[in-house]
Amino acid sequence: MSMTSAEIREAFLSYFADRGHQRVASASLIPGNDPTLLFTNAGMVPFKDVFLGDEQRGYQRATSAQRCLRAGGKHNDLENVGYTARHHTFFEMLGNFSFGDYFKREAIQYAWNFLTEELKLPKEKLWVTVFTEDDEAYAIWANEIGVPEDRISRIGEKDNFWAMGDTGPCGPCSEVFYDHGADVWGGPPGTPEEDGDRYIEIWNLVFMQYNRQADGTLEPLPKPSVDTGMGLERIAAILQNVHSNYDIDLFQALIKAAAELVQTDDLESKSLRVIADHIRSCSFLVVDGVQPSNEGRGYVLRRIIRRAVRHGNMLGAKGPFFHKLVAELIRQMGTAYPELKAKEKVISDALLREEEQFGKTLERGLAILNDALDELKGDVIPGEVVFKLYDTYGFPLDLTADIAREKALTVDAEGFEQAMEAQRKRAQQASQFGVDYNQGLKSAQQSEFTGYTDVSGTSKVVELFSNGEQVTQLAAGQHGVVVLSHTPFYAESGGQIGDSGRFVTADGASLFAVEDTQYIGKAIAHHGRTEGQLSVGDEVKVEIDDQRRAEIKRNHSSTHLLHAALRNVLGEHVTQKGSLVTAERLRFDFSHFAAVSAAEMDAIEREVNQQIAANHELTTGVMPIDEAKKAGAMALFGEKYDDDVRVVRMGDYSMELCGGTHVQRTGDIGSFRLVSEAGIASGVRRIEAVSGAAAVSYTQQQQQLLRDAAGLLKSEVSQLPQRLQQFLEKSKGMERTINDLQQQLAAQAGGSLIEQAVDIAGHKVILAQLDNVESKALRGMVDDLKNQLGSGIVVLAVASDSKVSLIVGVTKDLTSKVKAGDVVNVAAVEVGGKGGGRPDMAQAGGSDSSKMSQALTAAQQRIEELLR
Ligand code: ALA
Repeated sequence: MSMTSAEIREAFLSYFADRGHQRVASASLIPGNDPTLLFTNAGMVPFKDVFLGDEQRGYQRATSAQRCLRAGGKHNDLENVGYTARHHTFFEMLGNFSFGDYFKREAIQYAWNFLTEELKLPKEKLWVTVFTEDDEAYAIWANEIGVPEDRISRIGEKDNFWAMGDTGPCGPCSEVFYDHGADVWGGPPGTPEEDGDRYIEIWNLVFMQYNRQADGTLEPLPKPSVDTGMGLERIAAILQNVHSNYDIDLFQALIKAAAELVQTDDLESKSLRVIADHIRSCSFLVVDGVQPSNEGRGYVLRRIIRRAVRHGNMLGAKGPFFHKLVAELIRQMGTAYPELKAKEKVISDALLREEEQFGKTLERGLAILNDALDELKGDVIPGEVVFKLYDTYGFPLDLTADIAREKALTVDAEGFEQAMEAQRKRAQQASQFGVDYNQGLKSAQQSEFTGYTDVSGTSKVVELFSNGEQVTQLAAGQHGVVVLSHTPFYAESGGQIGDSGRFVTADGASLFAVEDTQYIGKAIAHHGRTEGQLSVGDEVKVEIDDQRRAEIKRNHSSTHLLHAALRNVLGEHVTQKGSLVTAERLRFDFSHFAAVSAAEMDAIEREVNQQIAANHELTTGVMPIDEAKKAGAMALFGEKYDDDVRVVRMGDYSMELCGGTHVQRTGDIGSFRLVSEAGIASGVRRIEAVSGAAAVSYTQQQQQLLRDAAGLLKSEVSQLPQRLQQFLEKSKGMERTINDLQQQLAAQAGGSLIEQAVDIAGHKVILAQLDNVESKALRGMVDDLKNQLGSGIVVLAVASDSKVSLIVGVTKDLTSKVKAGDVVNVAAVEVGGKGGGRPDMAQAGGSDSSKMSQALTAAQQRIEELLR
């Protein structure tokens, strides 16, 4: 019987415990007190301060099975998950550590003995690497352990100098590799084929010697130390005689459970592997206190959950499924990690909430993406599309990149960043509501505001400005700014626009037309044009445009109802980010990640109208800020308030700090309609709405639009959807026809690879050099071409960066004569590489891309020899 993951974990820990190592329990995924790291990404992280000499513990040797996350920061494997046999976001790292005790020799001996004597791995399957300059480690492996020199490679800094992060402990390392056998394509470390899956790194021995400083310099550690790491999943795969980590006991159980939940039979599906991987990282992140959010660790969690949800959706999952997988995870890992069981409900609740939230926008986002893909020219998805998916449908960048990759496309990440930046700018501009007429004006006056109760009254001119200068008189016909001792005019603030109106003479004739009201310091400044002469000291009768004010009041009170309804419908995370209240409409910006769905919009609109109908009385009161906050009044985060604040309540439904003017009862609003909803910055949405008579006109306009549309389609409004559906189907049919015609044209132009097939001894052979194909997509392509040929041979050569990939496919009926590996090897020699694989499919890498055509010629000659 091969060993289970749990048995291997235990064998490792007791092997090192028997050799004087303290057993240390796995620490949290969130590094305690280390702001330089997003996540615990290696077994050594909890010991960082011990390596640095800043912390002493009662032991100098330790061993642990540490949960690790590599999904953000310096070590990030998220995008490889599902595509390779060995990458994970979450994994367990088995490690032994020496804090200034033993060094290279013992570290190497322990590792070798554990692998070959405890686990009984065959010595000839093990390969090792050392850092280029590390002669000492080389000599230990070669002379003391006796590893043959052709199985020891010297490797440079990229792979054999390990660092925890951009700063912190680091040092040269030596790695042990396992050879999974000639059936799997790939080459030993340091060869062009090293990216294949044949030789897999299983254990990294780091000789910790330095502390990397922020400026990049290396400061020696107090004592040379050892940090090692072996991925539990990789070693389990070897011991269970499987090639892929996903075939080990634990993953198979998760994959089966996931398959049942989404109801698929395809146990080999890449998507199931992704889900099985992601349930581990997501569950442990929640266990360690992270919740999905828009920033930092919470956003990494959100990205991983959404990626899992999308893969479930691809498999046909109906509704939320991911959170249900927690139960199986607990069956598999609950004994080693009791905290999983203890927090089961917290985990599944968090996952479910996120699944539901993303579920609302996923379908729509995918439809938008598919439309964009239909129209795509070239193989890069434009930044604006990626941005729209992010902004409106909550698709993280890497999620879209994952979808793109499945279709052999990439995303324009730079264009995405630019679109983000442009939106940040727009949001900044948009938050500067109104125009600053007062620029440069200064006043020491403090005007009294009487407009909460009055709409008119008498007052006295105390200050005048014209053309940016303080003056004592305004001549008839002049534009200017008037400050009064007290006034019912509301100066723009708190999002509510300034009042307009007029000053009148005793006989009621107009004297000064007030176009806008703004604050200058604490003075209320009336902007407008005078019709007669106006001097400092004049008594004036004033009256605001109370019709306009009534509309402003309706919209302002509606804004409070909207704010409360948003929090009820969307959740308590909704906070106000800005608002604008005018006579015509209201605008409200708030924090929320996804687009507000049509159903949510309806619910919000319904709730506001119910509160209008409830006809709550509005009451206001002034109280100390602390008291107001304690009573639960909504305040703007980051806003500076006076010690005493005005609180506006609408029955028990809403309570906000607000200096604005409001209706007397909510029933005065009449009615309320939402007009639009959009994203204006990352995580910030904007709603526009109308109330009162404007809400009625808006409804009527909408109806008119429907009538017009129905008229164009010669239909009734009630038949509109069906009629449009018919039209769309017709136009889809036409698109298909056009597509077919285009393909016929392309085929006639003779561009397809199939048509390039040549005849060699009566067999069809395709030999082609390609650009812009991801080497990962090659296998699929060769399979397709083989299928299309029925019988034949395909040889493709692709250059990417400085590397060359060669791939040869032979249909089964010809493999007795021509072995793919044989052909690929002959070709690989030309580009400086080596290949391997199965008789029907073999791959090779190489480094000399200038020799691609020679490689194809060599392949052709070999095929000719073999077929004759
Ligand atoms: N800290 C080393 C690694 O993560 C062992 O590879």
